[in-house]
Amino acid sequence: MSQVRVPVITIDGPSGSGKGTIAKLAAENLGWHLLDSGALYRLTALACQRHGVDTQVESAVERVAKHLDVQFVPNEEETQVLLESEDVTKVIRTEEVGEIASVVAVYTAVREALLQRQRDFREMPGLVADGRDMGTGIFPDADVKIFLTASVEERARRRYLQLKAQGKDASLAELVEALAARDERDANREIAPLRPANGALVVDSTHMSITQAVEIVLEEARKAGLLV
Ligand code: DC
Repeated sequence: MSQVRVPVITIDGPSGSGKGTIAKLAAENLGWHLLDSGALYRLTALACQRHGVDTQVESAVERVAKHLDVQFVPNEEETQVLLESEDVTKVIRTEEVGEIASVVAVYTAVREALLQRQRDFREMPGLVADGRDMGTGIFPDADVKIFLTASVEERARRRYLQLKAQGKDASLAELVEALAARDERDANREIAPLRPANGALVVDSTHMSITQAVEIVLEEARKAGLLV
């Protein structure tokens, strides 16, 4: 008997493009599963930090990635993320952890260690996967591929507002600089560089509302015959 093919929508793009929010809303709307692949790199980074693992040593980081003890627990509000049974939902979103994640994500062995874990999220009735290489590397046979971008200034502005809302101090100029540096590292690394997948629809969300961007994703799903 042939296996049932599980449909996938991939949403790739740089930090702050809104892909996390848009992927979550699209998945909710469709009643599908969600893969936040960036969280796995962030969890690897946090686990290295907690266990005092030197992030300059690829094989040491690989071991951490292979043995990651994580759980994603869907809740009403947000998905709770547990690392070794501890709630790290908020900790993994910090700039510091994001920076380390971007460093460990350049290692081939780390990306390979996380490959199957990401593919395991592909379950019926479907998956919306967000990250950098969802459409290029992890789910090359995806039914719909979106590459979501926004200007670096707009992405920094969104992050600035988020941090302010959390009562944190932030400098817009520093955020622009940090995002540009991270984009550069993510786009120019040898393995799985950030770029639109073949056949991806490139969506610039600079002047778009979240609702408009979600509507585009759902429209693509409709066109691909994924909505009944
Ligand atoms: O999307 P994010 O900010 O949570 O991702 C954190 C880091 O992980 C980012 O700098 C790049 C990396 N990443 C990656 O290399 N591949 C993915 N599929 C997702 C994230």
